[in-house]
Amino acid sequence: MSVQVLHVTGARPNFPKAAPVIRALHQRDVEQQLVHTGQHYDERMSDVFFRQLDLPEPDVNLGVGSGSHAVQTAAIMTGLEALLLRERPRLLVVYGDVNSTLAGALVAAKLEIPVAHVEAGLRSFNRAMPEEINRLVTDRLADLLFATSPDAVAHLAAEGVSAERIHFVGNPMIDTLLANLERLDVTRVRATARLPERYLVATLHRPANVDDASDAAELTKAIHAAADQLPLVMPVHPRGRATLAAAGMFDHPQVRVVDPLGYLEFLSLVRGAAAVITDSGGVQEETTVLGVPCLTLRPDTERPVTISHGTNRLVDRADLPAEVRIALASPRPAEPVTPPLWDGRAGGRIADVIVDFL
Ligand code: UD1
Ligand code: UDP
Repeated sequence: MSVQVLHVTGARPNFPKAAPVIRALHQRDVEQQLVHTGQHYDERMSDVFFRQLDLPEPDVNLGVGSGSHAVQTAAIMTGLEALLLRERPRLLVVYGDVNSTLAGALVAAKLEIPVAHVEAGLRSFNRAMPEEINRLVTDRLADLLFATSPDAVAHLAAEGVSAERIHFVGNPMIDTLLANLERLDVTRVRATARLPERYLVATLHRPANVDDASDAAELTKAIHAAADQLPLVMPVHPRGRATLAAAGMFDHPQVRVVDPLGYLEFLSLVRGAAAVITDSGGVQEETTVLGVPCLTLRPDTERPVTISHGTNRLVDRADLPAEVRIALASPRPAEPVTPPLWDGRAGGRIADVIVDFL
């Protein structure tokens, strides 16, 4: 049978979003192929997710690797164009807002292959973020737009996307989290990282925080002031490692630096944390569902439901120490309130829409 659905993935946050969709389509006997663009390639940025999340081995790895935005996007487009001309899938599915997402949507649209965008409609309204450009263009080109939150639906409607193309389905990244809750082992990861009962987790990789020496210096000051309050474990994304090291980030006795962690190890640490400091999109959502206070070092977020329904707060670097103090002193709600449809069934809803479409 020819391929019906071809998934394009490539960067760390794509994998927990794609896993439940691929599984649900498999249960519905849809013929699928999985492409890995190779945008992320370190074992700990890629392979570990395939193992832990039971993702099928990619049918193709384009092996594009790192590069400037244009170089990386163009390499993905060139590789994908040849593949799509051969395979001619009936639908191409892209995830999130990374360069692999944009490249997949552009190539498919020009070959008149319909595009489905999982996590459509998120907007930070900040075009200095490369992801915002990727979101805007991908949504412009997509035929099926799967939204994770009501605000995303509203943004798409305001941009003129017709209602029949927009599907509010919930959040597949949260499907993956809920499906793996029982596998999270806080005691074990705490012991491995030699952490006491109360500790902080920090993960930071946005260009605005880690690319320039002056930003990295400010960030280091803020994180050190947080680590004065509680031991802090920081799995370091490869993007910022050198700049943060040069800024002295790792030279604090209470900062434990580790390589990027596997999905289960990372979320185990997050689940047990007194608070999380981040600029990650996915981590804002996961802390919301786990009920762990999240301090997001960004001026804006494309995920406002994590503030209105969750534990997230947007924080300035200068205010971080005080915000950590407040988070540590505040009682936790007994039951985290979660955004609508973040119920573990988004993958099934997406698959049902796709089957109808096919
Ligand atoms: C990308 C996404 C970002 C997402 C993040 C998730 C874009 C524009 N950005 O950012 O939205 O939040 O992934 O983690 O798509 N590197 C390695 N090993 C790897 C991968 C990257 O060493 O396996 C290093 C390289 O030096 C590379 C740098 O990290 O130049 C940045 O990688 P890149 O994929 O360009 O962007 P991210 O910052 O990872
Ligand atoms: N994550 C992980 N190990 C880490 C840091 C993050 O497994 O050391 C997971 C995190 O739980 C979430 C995903 O990676 O599922 C988010 O990816 P990332 O923060 O790189 O990208 P973003 O969401 O900001 O685009």
